Amino acid sequence: MQKGEEWFDQWFNTPYYHILYQNRDFQEAEDFMRILSSQLNITTNDKVLDLACGKGRHAIFLNKLGFNVEGIDLSTENIHHAQQFENDRLKFFTHDMRELYKKEEFNFIFNLFTSFGYFETEAEDLLALQMIADSLKQGGTLVLDYFNTYKVINSLPQKTVIERPEITFNVHKYLENRHVMKEISFTADGRNHVFTERVEALKNKDFCNLFQKVNLELLHTYGDYQLNEFDRENSDRMIFVVKKK
Ligand SMILES: C[S@@+](CC[C@H](N)C(=O)[O-])C[C@H]1O[C@@H](n2cnc3c(N)ncnc32)[C@H](O)[C@@H]1O
Repeated sequence: MQKGEEWFDQWFNTPYYHILYQNRDFQEAEDFMRILSSQLNITTNDKVLDLACGKGRHAIFLNKLGFNVEGIDLSTENIHHAQQFENDRLKFFTHDMRELYKKEEFNFIFNLFTSFGYFETEAEDLLALQMIADSLKQGGTLVLDYFNTYKVINSLPQKTVIERPEITFNVHKYLENRHVMKEISFTADGRNHVFTERVEALKNKDFCNLFQKVNLELLHTYGDYQLNEFDRENSDRMIFVVKKK
C-alpha cells in the first residue's frame, strides 16, 4: 500500500475523527504527565519528543510544567491545531514516525495512548522503533503506552453507539488475524461512511522482542496512568519504560 493511502493517514485527518474523539481526557493526560515526569526525573535541560502527539494534549502540558518539548504527528489537521500553542520551548511538526526525525536529539521520547501498531508489517514496526532508537541520545528513555492487549481481547466482540450532537457513530470492535479492529460507521454530509481502525494485538512478549531487535532495553512495565505495576488480567494499559543502551 502507498504512503498516504493507509487507514491511519486517512481517518486521523478527517473531521469525523475529531468529532468522535472530541471528549479525549485532558485531565487524565495532565495527571499522567505530572506523575511520569517526576518518576523519570526529567529536568528542564532535557529535550522531550511527543511522538504521534495528536492535538498535543500531553506535549502542551509538559511544556507548562517547564519542559522543552517537540510534538510530531502524521496528521496535518492535528498539527495545525497544536501549533497555536507553540512557544520557544514547544514546537509541533508534521512527520511520519517511520522516518528519522532528528538524530540523537532527545533525552525522552513518549509514544502515548496506543499510537503504535498501525502498520502492515513487522518491518514497519521495526522501522518506527529504529527511528525512536536513533532519535534518542545515549542513555535516553522511551515510554510507550499501549492498551492492555490481554484485557482488550477478553472484551471482544463489542458493539457500542456513540452519540455526538452532529453525528451518531456505530462502533464494532472485534479481533481479526491478530488485529484489534474497530469499525466505525455513521451518516454525515448526506453520505454513509465506514472507517476501520486496525491495531496489532501486540502482547508484552512481542514488544520485548521488538525492543531487543533495535537494541533497546526494557526497564519496567506499568499498568495504568497512576503507574501501578502491570497485571495482565486487570491492568488497563501496558506502559513500557525502555532505555537506549
Ligand atoms: C490514538 S491517537 C493518539 C494521539 C495522542 N498521542 C493523544 O494521546 O491524544 C494516534 C495518533 O497517531 C498518529 N499517527 C498515526 N500514524 C502515524 C505515523 N505513521 N507517524 C506519526 N503519527 C502517526 C495519528 O495521526 C494520531 O494523531
